[in-house]
Amino acid sequence: MTQAPPQPPPTRTRTRVLGEPLNRVDGHVKTTGAARFSAEYHYPDIAHAAIVHATISRGRITAIDASAALDVPGVHAVITHENAPRMQPPPKPSILNLATLASPTSVNYLNTDEVHWNGQPIAVAVAETLDAAREAASRVRVTYDAQPATADFEREQPNAIPQKNSPIMPASGSKGDAVAALAAAEVSVDLRFTTPMQNHNALEPHATTAAWDGDTLTVHDSTQAIDWTRQHLAHKFGIKAGDIRVVSTFVGGAFGGKGSVWPGTILAVLAARVTGRPVRLMLTREGVYRTVGGRTPSAQRVALGADRDGQLTALIHSGVTQVSRVGGGPEQVVSQSRHLYDAENILVEQSQVPLDALPNTSMRAPGEAIGSYAIEAAMDELAYRLDLDPIELRMRNEPDRDPLTGKLFARRGLRDAYALGAKQFRWQDRTPAPGSMRDGRWLVGMGVATAYHPSWQFGANLTVRIDADGTVLVRCAFHEMGMGGATAYAQVAAHALGVPFDAVRVEYGDTDLPIGPAAGGSAQTASVTSSILEAAAKLKRDLRKLAQRAGVSPTEPPTTILTRAGRDHLTATVGSDTRLGQITGQVRFMTKFLRDRRRYMKAACGAHFCEVKVDQDTGEIRVTRWLGVFDIGTVVNAKTAASQLRGGIVMGIGAALGEETLVDRDTGRIVNANLSEYHVPVHADIPRIDIECLGDPDPTMPLGVLGAGEVGIVGVAAAVANAVHHATGRRVYDLPITLDKVL
Ligand code: MOS
Repeated sequence: MTQAPPQPPPTRTRTRVLGEPLNRVDGHVKTTGAARFSAEYHYPDIAHAAIVHATISRGRITAIDASAALDVPGVHAVITHENAPRMQPPPKPSILNLATLASPTSVNYLNTDEVHWNGQPIAVAVAETLDAAREAASRVRVTYDAQPATADFEREQPNAIPQKNSPIMPASGSKGDAVAALAAAEVSVDLRFTTPMQNHNALEPHATTAAWDGDTLTVHDSTQAIDWTRQHLAHKFGIKAGDIRVVSTFVGGAFGGKGSVWPGTILAVLAARVTGRPVRLMLTREGVYRTVGGRTPSAQRVALGADRDGQLTALIHSGVTQVSRVGGGPEQVVSQSRHLYDAENILVEQSQVPLDALPNTSMRAPGEAIGSYAIEAAMDELAYRLDLDPIELRMRNEPDRDPLTGKLFARRGLRDAYALGAKQFRWQDRTPAPGSMRDGRWLVGMGVATAYHPSWQFGANLTVRIDADGTVLVRCAFHEMGMGGATAYAQVAAHALGVPFDAVRVEYGDTDLPIGPAAGGSAQTASVTSSILEAAAKLKRDLRKLAQRAGVSPTEPPTTILTRAGRDHLTATVGSDTRLGQITGQVRFMTKFLRDRRRYMKAACGAHFCEVKVDQDTGEIRVTRWLGVFDIGTVVNAKTAASQLRGGIVMGIGAALGEETLVDRDTGRIVNANLSEYHVPVHADIPRIDIECLGDPDPTMPLGVLGAGEVGIVGVAAAVANAVHHATGRRVYDLPITLDKVL
């Protein structure tokens, strides 16, 4: 026998970089504390700011006395509506004006004596130390002319007004006659659910460090939209966007809560303007509750009709949510019910209750996260009425096309997700009767629910540069809030250019870079990677041309081509880095996506499997096992993707079992604005969470990516509720599922 040929030397291409569970490139700086967050930028003469919040929910300030505050040693200024410089009121919302996209309220803070919610910022104290600023803020004396306020969501529900449809995210829709079909159905359920208001509790409270240099401004801000922040501040302070630099390299979690310009950012910039000092303003935990919107409360009705075989004949999902009188948008709690089940008759509709309240905002899967609780718990209840396995009921109603629009699904791996999940979770061990499974004193329950979240793609301007030494630099102002973008996008660049992962460096989080997308709608990865692919293709074309001119084989590595051609680097630009170019760039990127979307429904989906144990005497609920099987299209990094999905599940368990913002009915004041009375899960509450991804690319998305940021939370509360019902026989219709509700 001849000798085996020698193994080829390690090549410059690592074939399996895409999808590999590589460690984060920022892991080291984060675990050692070297990573700087927005409140950690040190300027030698930095001053600190603290906010004074209104204590009424509607009315006027009749007097504001800062004299005691100004007596605090080290105080530089107390800024109120009486002495604040004029700022532009927030711009009117418009899709064509980037400054408005990040504008959650119409309130011109500190330029008005009007109060619109309990907690609205009405003054800011600036001092040499944080303690002095907070002490001063606490000494500001305010007198109000309080007006009767409409602040109670429950009481105002009879006054709900029907919600208008937005073309991008329709809230209502129908086919057939669902009301008649429900009445005629052989088997039906007609159920009411409520979910409470919830608040953002990212690890890092919102923070801003602002420094003026003449009329130019540098802002370190914890944001998921640096360009919108820049545009908004330019509008507010009447300067050019080009004179503002927003830096946001690391953000300690955002989840939608940092997608808009909330008052803290504006007040930090204002305080720096007034005092002539760089100013740091980090919200207290309470400050986040008072000045950053949370998730709407909801009241929902789900009515389902089916024939004896479990084929749905009627699906009705209606929802009531809260909106503020001073801005924000309604949360689409019924929207996923447009896409889930093949029923001949469907009616989804939504109405809203305007309140004197802080506008609610996006919070991880706004709409779906709580809407899925109602529809997926109702499906579970229907399965019991039909004496059918809940997975089987879902499979019998799995549609071939998007039920309301008839569009094709670009991908929909739900059948595979449930099949794989059932096997891995040992679903066959479940005995269907409620209360039939036990582990000593613990009642054991198993529940499932479907996750569903539409996929989006926005524009990402960027440059990719390859050097003669083989290094690659990707420059794009995207956002890193903990998702692992820098790592994943380096993998995509390495994959697309055929260079080692370690050769790629990624710069991000700075408006001095080509502008990327806002990090929202689970769309950042699809957006940025699509531009990286485009840039890589350009670079390869240019390298081929260069090779031709230099008489080098185009199959030679880029380093050889560049060296032989006498070039030290090549750069490809996608989109533009001019201010106007950003907008035309965005339009170009979005046009293709929206054209595609007329034919295809694009969404990530998944199946949750949950096991709970409920103490037979105390009603204590422990989540003991979890498996989520997802179709998120291509997985760019198996580790960071699983972490995203796991994070969504943890947040969903919080919503299922603990989270509830308590609002005083009369004063509209949040009474549990802290982490001791607002319950988020701790490590001891969370079991091992297993994640599987099907992994096939979506054929209609660049790189096949569908998005992983939000789909993980969708359906979680329902899976818990369904498991609790299986364990105890108690169906809980009101989140959170606290022990008093199962006893
Ligand atoms: Mo989001 S809730 O689109 O950050």
